[in-house]
Amino acid sequence: MAQILAIANQKGGVGKTTTALSLAGALGMMGRRVLVMDLDPHGCASAHMGIFPESVAASSADVFWATAPERVPWDRIVSRAGRAAFDLAPSHSRLSDMETDLRDRKGKGVLLKEALARGPAYDHVILDCPPHTGVVLVNALVAADLLLIPIQTDFLALHGVRNLFETMRALNQVLPRPIAYRALATMFDRRAKACLRVVELLREKFRGRMFGTVIGLDTKFREASALGRVIQDVAPDSRGAREYRSLAEEVLAL
Ligand SMILES: Nc1ncnc2c1ncn2[C@@H]1O[C@H](COP(=O)(O)OP(=O)(O)O)[C@@H](O)[C@H]1O
Ligand SMILES: [Mg+2]
Repeated sequence: MAQILAIANQKGGVGKTTTALSLAGALGMMGRRVLVMDLDPHGCASAHMGIFPESVAASSADVFWATAPERVPWDRIVSRAGRAAFDLAPSHSRLSDMETDLRDRKGKGVLLKEALARGPAYDHVILDCPPHTGVVLVNALVAADLLLIPIQTDFLALHGVRNLFETMRALNQVLPRPIAYRALATMFDRRAKACLRVVELLREKFRGRMFGTVIGLDTKFREASALGRVIQDVAPDSRGAREYRSLAEEVLAL
């Protein structure tokens, strides 16, 4: 069974997509079989890897549209993410309208979990989640073995997390066990004292539920994205690549 990791935070621009792709890149280079599912209707993870949702035969949305979990056309949905060491299920703009599409659907919160249980064999499935609350985010949280919450180390760091915790609290009341989660500090600027203070605050708040790895600011992430590659391919010795390798080691040791 694959380990399913949901990457979510309802704040935008905190490093969700960067974490999904860079962690996938690190795990892939360690020989693990990895699938990244782009569940954000904006399709940033897909576009980053040079896959444009309007030009694909099938997408992550087909997981929700399939009439039964065994009918999900995985072979059409999934392809190699360019030259990276992982597979990608691209996004679809219609992912933002799933509320409407699934209006009369029974068991609509467990569609992704059930589809993945019958899906192709992977060691890790990484879900790049949409920023807004809705049926797609709920599916990701229900399917996940672990929720990874990237938190940008700035003043408003905890702003988007409140919404996410409300969604989790509601789900925890109906799930057989509470959602396991870990926070990840991202975009840490080691020259800024305020950043250090935020990391200390996060450690106080999350205690054991925070990854030891802290992701620093690195311009190589933007460079990689512009080239349609992951940081491991563009700058394997960069600080950013090293930090995501260290995160991958923590994930493997969980
Ligand atoms: N550690 C980092 N250092 C520098 N830039 C980063 C870092 N992480 C992400 N970025 C950049 O910040 C922007 C937002 O990141 P992204 O991962 O797309 O956030 P989200 O998916 O949460 O909206 C992107 O341009 C990305 O390249
Ligand atoms: Mg994103």
